[in-house]
Formats: sequence, structure tokens, C-alpha cells
Amino acid sequence: MSIISNNISKAIEILNQDDLVAIPTETVYGLAGNIYSESAIRKIFALKQRPLFNPLIVHIKSIEQLPELAREIPEKARRLAEAFWPGPLTFVLKKQPRVPDLVTAGKDSVAIRIPNHPVALALLEALDFPLAAPSANPFGCISPTSAAHVAAYFPDSLKMVLEGGDCKNGIESTIVGFENGTPVLYRLGSISVEDIEAVIGAIEVKNKKEVAPDAPGMLSRHYAPRTPTFLTDDVAAFIQAYPAKKIGLLLFKSRIEHPAVHAQEILSEAGSLAEATANLYAAMHRLDKLGLDMIVAERFPDHDLGMSINDRLERATKK
Ligand code: TXA
Ligand code: MG
Repeated sequence: MSIISNNISKAIEILNQDDLVAIPTETVYGLAGNIYSESAIRKIFALKQRPLFNPLIVHIKSIEQLPELAREIPEKARRLAEAFWPGPLTFVLKKQPRVPDLVTAGKDSVAIRIPNHPVALALLEALDFPLAAPSANPFGCISPTSAAHVAAYFPDSLKMVLEGGDCKNGIESTIVGFENGTPVLYRLGSISVEDIEAVIGAIEVKNKKEVAPDAPGMLSRHYAPRTPTFLTDDVAAFIQAYPAKKIGLLLFKSRIEHPAVHAQEILSEAGSLAEATANLYAAMHRLDKLGLDMIVAERFPDHDLGMSINDRLERATKK
């Protein structure tokens, strides 16, 4: 029997019993549990095989709930929240003592957002506690953008995936923190740097790839298909060198015909970066299931959401 269900009352019951439910959001599906339940939080880390030093994002239902968890809310965070919440923007803020250390991996800060998905919001509305929810994939794997992706990852170890359709944005939230009051972007995501800067002015991008970054989930190899994956500016030229391989292509707008190409995913025929972003992970999941020798991805234009797509493609291709 499938673990996918749209029974929201059942989801509430499971979460109230310190257990986990995978929930839809507008970015990717999350593996959710009560932030105040130590056993629920431990289950999240265990199920994802996630290192305990990598903190979780907390999901809240309204901006009024923010002071319960964050002890300082910079003016620029307020302006960004007004512009983008509910939505795919996560703030890293100084935490209130009541936020458990397990959730923040011992950090003095907590990552928080309000998801923009009717099912997630209805769930949060019905619960007495915020939900910690990392992306619902095993550590290092491609994030899930459909209930079926989650069910395939955790067929036996998860009680329920709450159905909420395909994720509209399709990659993770953008993460913004503050260092001595100055905003810093820690993870490129569903909201572009340009859109953030339109609200608060210039922001430093520290979307780093070093081993111990501020956002430990940004460890370089992440979001990776099992099939060896390559990123190039010129796909047609790249594949000439591999005539005998079974190749899958991940392309922006147009197809490439070549005998070695066994499958190709066009992320947006119309050339829309938002549409390409929404399709990215689902296309990676499909290509990864085909038993190909290699996946070759095309580098995107390096602006707006193209920057976020390139970031994920670089992480997927890192050796
Ligand atoms: O769109 C999203 O953000 C999705 C959905 C489910 O909301 N969640 C998500 O969670 O992407 P996760 O755990 O896969 O990524 C959270 C990132 C990690 O890189 C983590 O290190 C970082 O947020 N993070 C969490 N708390 C932090 C903190 N206090 N300081 C710095 N980085 C933090
Ligand atoms: Mg993740």
C-alpha cells in the first residue's frame, strides 16, 4: 500500500505523536517533525542519514510567530519577509533559548521560513508547534519535487507522504542571514539575488562550497544523481568525445540530435528560467532512472534563477 495520502487529519495525528510526515511545500517536499519533540527531531536526522552538525529549517505559519523563535529581527529581514512571505525565503536569525539545540545543531541561530503551499499552511495552522523540515531526501541525493519522489526514497521507513502535487518553484528556498547587521546570502535558491536586491539593496553572496561552510548543507557534493553527471557550456561539442556511451541530456531550450543521446530533458522550450527551475529536479530524477552511462547538463545563463540552477548543477557534477 502506498504511503502517499491526502488525509491531513491523519498527518496531524502522526505529527502530534512525535512521528514524521513528508509534507509538500512550494520548493521541495520536506521531512517534517515537531521542533519541540526530541524523538521526532532524532528521527529526521536518522531517516535522512544526515550528520547531526547540519541544522534544520523551521517552518512557521505566520510572521507573528517569528519572535517565539528569533530573538532579533533586523529591519531588512522585516522588509524581506513582507515582500516574500509566505514564500521560498529562509532567514537565519539569532535563536530564542526555547529552540532546541538539536534543531540548530548547537548553533546560536535558527533558520526559519513560512512555506507558500496551502497544504503546508493548513497543517501548520492545525498544530501547536512549528515544524522542522529538511528536504525529504537521503543525505546527498536529489531533492524531491513530488510525493512519488519521496515515497521512492522511503518506502518502508516513513508512515506518510502528504500529497500536495508537484512543487511549483522546484528548488530549495534562498537563505539569507545577517552578520553584524549586514545581510548575507548563504544559499542561492527559489528567489533570485536580483529580486532580493530590489528590496534591500546589495547583498553579499556567500554561497560557498568549502568543507565547513556556514550553511553545512552546502557541502559541495549534494543534489547528486547516481549516474555520473557533467556540466558544460557546449553540450554538442562535449558529447562528440563519447560516441560509444549511452548519454542523457539536461538542456535549457532546445534538443540536440546525436546517436549517443538516448534521452533528453528540455527544461523550458519557452526559455523561461522559472519554468526550467520548476522542472530541474524532476528531470534529474527521470534521467537517473534510465541506466545511462552519463548525464550531460548545459550551463545556464548566469543571472536570475539561472544562477541557482547552475549552483545545483555544479553540486550535482562535483566529484
Ligand atoms: O526550501 C527549503 O528550504 C526546503 C523546504 C522543505 O522548506 N528545506 C530545505 O532544508 O532545503 P535542508 O535541510 O535541505 O536545507 C537547509 C539548509 C542547510 O544547508 C542547513 O545547513 C542550512 O539550511 N541551515 C539551517 N539552519 C542554519 C543555521 N542556523 N545557520 C546556517 N545555516 C543553516
Ligand atoms: Mg536538502
